[in-house]
Amino acid sequence: MVSLYGSSAEKLSDSIRKCCYILQSYSWLTDAYILDFFTEDLWERLPPSWQEVLNTVDLNELGWWLDFSNAPRCQRPWPLSLLALRMAVRSISLPRRSCATLDVPNESTGRPCSRAQGLSHCGRHCLPADADYPGRQELDCSGGPAPCTFEAASDQGGFFQVFRKHVTPKKMHEIDKMAKVVCQLAADTHAMHVVDVGSGLGHLARLLSYGHGLSVCCIEAQETLSSRARKLDMEMKKALSKMLTKEQLRLLPCPQHVTSIVEPSMEKSHFVQMVSQAFQQHSMTSRLSNALSSNTGFGIVGLHPCGDLAPYLIRIFTDCPEAKFICIAGCCYMKLTPNIEFPMSAKLMDDNAVSPWQRDFQLSYESREMACHAIEAYSRNLLSGITSSLKIHCYRAALERIIVKNWPNLSRRGLKSIKYAEHLQFPEYAVRALSSLKLIPPNEDVLSEETNQCLDSWRKVVCFYSIRLMLSPLVETLILIDRFLFLSLKGMTCRISPEFDPELSPRNHLIIATKSTDVKKHLSL
Ligand SMILES: C[S@@+](CC[C@H](N)C(=O)[O-])C[C@H]1O[C@@H](n2cnc3c(N)ncnc32)[C@H](O)[C@@H]1O
Repeated sequence: MVSLYGSSAEKLSDSIRKCCYILQSYSWLTDAYILDFFTEDLWERLPPSWQEVLNTVDLNELGWWLDFSNAPRCQRPWPLSLLALRMAVRSISLPRRSCATLDVPNESTGRPCSRAQGLSHCGRHCLPADADYPGRQELDCSGGPAPCTFEAASDQGGFFQVFRKHVTPKKMHEIDKMAKVVCQLAADTHAMHVVDVGSGLGHLARLLSYGHGLSVCCIEAQETLSSRARKLDMEMKKALSKMLTKEQLRLLPCPQHVTSIVEPSMEKSHFVQMVSQAFQQHSMTSRLSNALSSNTGFGIVGLHPCGDLAPYLIRIFTDCPEAKFICIAGCCYMKLTPNIEFPMSAKLMDDNAVSPWQRDFQLSYESREMACHAIEAYSRNLLSGITSSLKIHCYRAALERIIVKNWPNLSRRGLKSIKYAEHLQFPEYAVRALSSLKLIPPNEDVLSEETNQCLDSWRKVVCFYSIRLMLSPLVETLILIDRFLFLSLKGMTCRISPEFDPELSPRNHLIIATKSTDVKKHLSL
């Protein structure tokens, strides 16, 4: 039975139908860009009853309203239609906190694999049998659960501290969480090789290989990033050499970096060949290449593969027998190619009477872009009572008015982001924001009465943005459930888990899949 968080395939289809229905009904909201707030008079699009309550709402109350982990703390009667909409979004959207794992039943027990069973330990099998260095002990569960965390008191000699260098706290959190999941998958599937696609600077790859002893091949489209990643590898190896014996250092698996663009036109056999060659260049050549040829296979990982890359990786995973697991966190949904990479499951369900997809259904660019915003961080800003950062959307919308008046062909133009914009007065903001276009905003517009009126209505901009943002989990849910269904319909065992802290890393769901042995056992569509 295909199941997501205890839901049957029928219920999943029902969730898709409900998501589509709500998103189609509220496209006037999801498709409205906040920078058009004044030029398109977006406030007037809100129903009068919504305007009435939002006109005077306390921003703190709005912060609670956006926090789906709580019931809203309403200080006044809210319009029923708005309350019902929030309730619907909240009940259909995937949970964004890691209180539960969304998964299919375990094949043998029929019970869902809980986080405690599945993901909180690191597998002992993910290290080469003869490797022995501090990181390895973090992985060995033989003496009971060994929490593989950077805060672990057992971090001998600060071994894992080395991995913090050049890495932001957000990235550190992500790679730490993801590495634990990947180690467990590698252990469960006996796939010691990991291909990190869209690896960027290789932070995850270094943790997986130097930290956890996995053999890692990175595929990255940009050579500048691959070459910087190689330099960071060398730097880290040097730092580790001060903690390891010569023998430990010799056994340390180094990530291999390949610069290549993964595209749908790439033959799967070419992908496998590229990966095999990279692994063969590995320092422990013979053993690793033997492992690949002896069909232990590899896992595919992607930490925020943008746009179409995530669906490409899912397709490679389902089509390549050598690929044993996949673990990806999506991002940049607005870069998805409509009709081709979303919805992925529609074609598989075309002939199915219960297909939830309408032929012409699409998610607009604007709604997919909105799904990449950070709802928890915005809610926290509202709750903080610090208003300066909340005014930035109003600044941008007021500037758009000036742009449209003076340079109409530049409307909706992306402007460079301004550091510490919240500390600037509007005239300074306007000058800096337009400098990338080599334009100077006319003083009579920047200081005009109309502009001041716009700036005075910043609370309305915040309210509109918040109500729109409330719908964003629904868009992300639709995209993730679509990927889940695609994998499940292809016979994979799949789960979606909110592994990252959404306040630190808002694209926080991991899609994790392994290959099921018996397709029919898992499908009842
Ligand atoms: C959002 S970044 C994530 C980088 C890295 N995984 C991390 O978390 O730091 C996405 C990366 O994927 C790479 N990328 C995008 N499309 C790609 C493709 N089709 N093939 C290979 N790499 C790609 C980009 O160059 C970029 O470095």
